[in-house]
Amino acid sequence: MLGPARRVVFCALVCCSVYARASSCPPRCECSEAAHTVKCVSRDLRTVPVGIPGYARNLFITGNHIGRVGPGCFRGLDNVTNLSLSGNRISEVESHTFAALRSLRYLDLSNNQLTNIHPEGFSMHNHSLRELNLSRALYNHSAVMDLAASLRLSSLGALQGLDLSGNGLIFLPPRTFSRLGRLRRLQLSNNSLVAIHNGTFWGLGELEQLDLTFNALKSIPEEGLRELDDLPAAASLLLGDNPFTCTCAIEPFALWLNRSQGRVRDAEGLVCAFPAVMRNVSLLAAATRTLGCHQRAAGADMALQTSYVFLGIVLGLVGLVFLFVLYLNRKGIKKRVNDARDACREVWEGYHYRYEIDSDPRLSQVSVSADA
Ligand SMILES: *[C@@H]1O[C@H](CO)[C@@H](O)[C@H](O)[C@H]1NC(C)=O
Ligand SMILES: *[C@@H]1O[C@H](CO)[C@@H](O)[C@H](O)[C@H]1NC(C)=O
Ligand SMILES: *[C@@H]1O[C@H](CO)[C@@H](O)[C@H](O)[C@H]1NC(C)=O
Ligand SMILES: *[C@@H]1O[C@H](CO)[C@@H](O)[C@H](O)[C@H]1NC(C)=O
Ligand SMILES: *[C@@H]1O[C@H](CO)[C@@H](O)[C@H](O)[C@H]1NC(C)=O
Ligand SMILES: *[C@@H]1O[C@H](CO)[C@@H](O)[C@H](O)[C@H]1NC(C)=O
Ligand SMILES: *[C@@H]1O[C@H](CO)[C@@H](O)[C@H](O)[C@H]1NC(C)=O
Ligand SMILES: *[C@@H]1O[C@H](CO)[C@@H](O)[C@H](O)[C@H]1NC(C)=O
Ligand SMILES: *[C@@H]1O[C@H](CO)[C@@H](O)[C@H](O)[C@H]1NC(C)=O
Repeated sequence: MLGPARRVVFCALVCCSVYARASSCPPRCECSEAAHTVKCVSRDLRTVPVGIPGYARNLFITGNHIGRVGPGCFRGLDNVTNLSLSGNRISEVESHTFAALRSLRYLDLSNNQLTNIHPEGFSMHNHSLRELNLSRALYNHSAVMDLAASLRLSSLGALQGLDLSGNGLIFLPPRTFSRLGRLRRLQLSNNSLVAIHNGTFWGLGELEQLDLTFNALKSIPEEGLRELDDLPAAASLLLGDNPFTCTCAIEPFALWLNRSQGRVRDAEGLVCAFPAVMRNVSLLAAATRTLGCHQRAAGADMALQTSYVFLGIVLGLVGLVFLFVLYLNRKGIKKRVNDARDACREVWEGYHYRYEIDSDPRLSQVSVSADA
């Protein structure tokens, strides 16, 4: 009682074993039993060919037009350790595509156009995979969420090398690599990464090499420096060919670089790209001399003092002009002063009189009754 779908699968398995037994080779491929190698290179294939012999350990299906790959493509290929699917315009990786490849260690998916990666697209039998090459494999940055999910949810716990170079990545979602605890080499060069955030490299407890060259980092602020400091002490970093912008804001990074020359392998080669006057200046030198942020602060104090002196002179001049005007008006002023003095005297005498009345109880009685 086989349903139609089952009958197809059954037939495919039978066909495969027939091919294997006959040690024949699928059309448009070249097979070498002695070298355990099958190559189907640039033959305009639209699907993964059926009937690849079971002795194959190295399988190269490259430079074709295979749009999508799924779990049906690789049945019966227990012995394949190296699979290259480079340059096939693959846009979709279905769930458990490679799970039948029980011995798979090296998977090359570079130079494809992935837009849909199933979260379990890279789920492997028994965590077998060691190297995954996704260099220039994504169609554009939009696939990064699919990629991050698949790196977290697929069984890649034994992965040691991951190449994500040349994918136009602008950012990496936090904890993208959190399930890759065995990863040693991470290639992120030739992307457009602008920042390193808290959590970007979380979980990479065995990392040995991190390549961040040819990205869009203008600086690495404190948050990113802490993240890099949290990587294993033995991990070496590459940071060259980023558009470092040498204003005072880069100082914490430059000082960190000076401290971290042991692990930043290209520290001595890092140069400023902006501003134009700083172009090609070594970042290490910029930290100490050329940037001169603290001299600039001293200069600001100087300017402040200068402005106080200037203010004093202006106030002095205003005072002089005032005195001069007073001098010119001296007659009128004398008259006013006299008038004022007379007025004061009158007021004073009036007050004095009232005070005398108030201080004599009898007179105050009189004044109260008189007021009443
Ligand atoms: C895998 O290789 C082993 C030994 O080389 C061989 O016995 C076995 O038949 C191969 N598997 C398949 C599916 O051909
Ligand atoms: C498989 O690929 C890896 C990495 O590309 C290479 O080092 C290894 O020699 C290859 N194995 C075989 C049997 O060709
Ligand atoms: C899974 O891998 C472990 C260690 O790599 C190995 O001992 C075990 O035999 C493997 N199991 C299967 C079913 O391949
Ligand atoms: C990944 O593939 C690209 C292009 O096919 C190649 O240049 C690069 O060396 C590979 N990466 C690794 C780590 O082998
Ligand atoms: C990536 O490509 C898809 C499909 O063509 C498109 O919808 C999306 O806008 C592109 N994203 C970016 C960032 O260019
Ligand atoms: C970076 O990637 C672009 C295309 O993605 C490619 O043309 C260029 O050669 C790469 N540069 C380096 C240094 O790898
Ligand atoms: C980073 O994020 C974690 C939570 O995800 C938080 O506990 C930790 O304090 C943060 N570290 C810094 C330096 O902000
Ligand atoms: C920067 O230095 C490199 C070599 O050190 C040189 O080739 C390049 O012309 C320099 N660029 C500028 C703008 O000075
Ligand atoms: C850079 O580090 C060296 C020692 O490695 C130290 O002597 C020097 O003062 C440091 N420069 C700055 C600006 O901290």
